[in-house]
Amino acid sequence: MLSATPSNLRLLHITDPHLHSDAESRMHGVVTFDTFRAVIQQAMLNTQPPDAIIATGDLTHDGTVAGYRLFQSVLAPLNTPVLCIPGNHDAPNIMTSVLNDAPFQVNGLYRAHGWLLIMLNSFSDGIVAGHLGPAELERLHNTLHGNPSTPALICLHHHPLPIGSRWLDDIALQNPDELFAIIDAAPQVCGVLWGHVHQASDRQRNDIRLISSPSTCSQFRPNSDNFAIDTRPPGFRWLDLLADGTIETEAIWLD
Ligand SMILES: [Fe+2]
Repeated sequence: MLSATPSNLRLLHITDPHLHSDAESRMHGVVTFDTFRAVIQQAMLNTQPPDAIIATGDLTHDGTVAGYRLFQSVLAPLNTPVLCIPGNHDAPNIMTSVLNDAPFQVNGLYRAHGWLLIMLNSFSDGIVAGHLGPAELERLHNTLHGNPSTPALICLHHHPLPIGSRWLDDIALQNPDELFAIIDAAPQVCGVLWGHVHQASDRQRNDIRLISSPSTCSQFRPNSDNFAIDTRPPGFRWLDLLADGTIETEAIWLD
């Protein structure tokens, strides 16, 4: 169990809900709006609610206004900041136009409890893989340079290092070396968090935690060279960011 205390920054990580304009739509055998609501319902039963919710892309599968409205309808009543970045299935302009008011924020930064969360947009029009453009890399560099002693967590949609499945690694972040060149020069970066891979992983690179989380809908089978759906249920992740830069985290799958 996590040692969460009110002084920690407590984050709920949800990712890849793949909502559709039709709330009844199925994908890989599940009604994605139903599993999304079930995940949020279970997470909010926790005795320590999140200070912020991180949503790392593929919020919708079809990039529709109606899909983003469904996302909004479940999370707006929680009155908790929801920090969103687009995934390859999203329509960033439509997403930004719907999620344009508090508690929602698309891209940008978030500061709380002495931590800095840097939301990176790896969406690249016309491709499934991800790419961090020059402006986004410059923003990351400048933000880290201007906050040298603030522990930082970087969030993006695409995985910046291989997950071990050929078909997924073909659609990873295309320029991880540029990302890690900036991170390696910024010792205050404590972790990198992403979605896209529909599976949990938790690794270490130098002193940095590298973390992915299960999707709120269906999961991809780990270590499968070809596309394959896993039998694991919908899931989410808790992260507790401690004042000393430590990250405590636990992935949770629905019963
Ligand atoms: Fe996805």
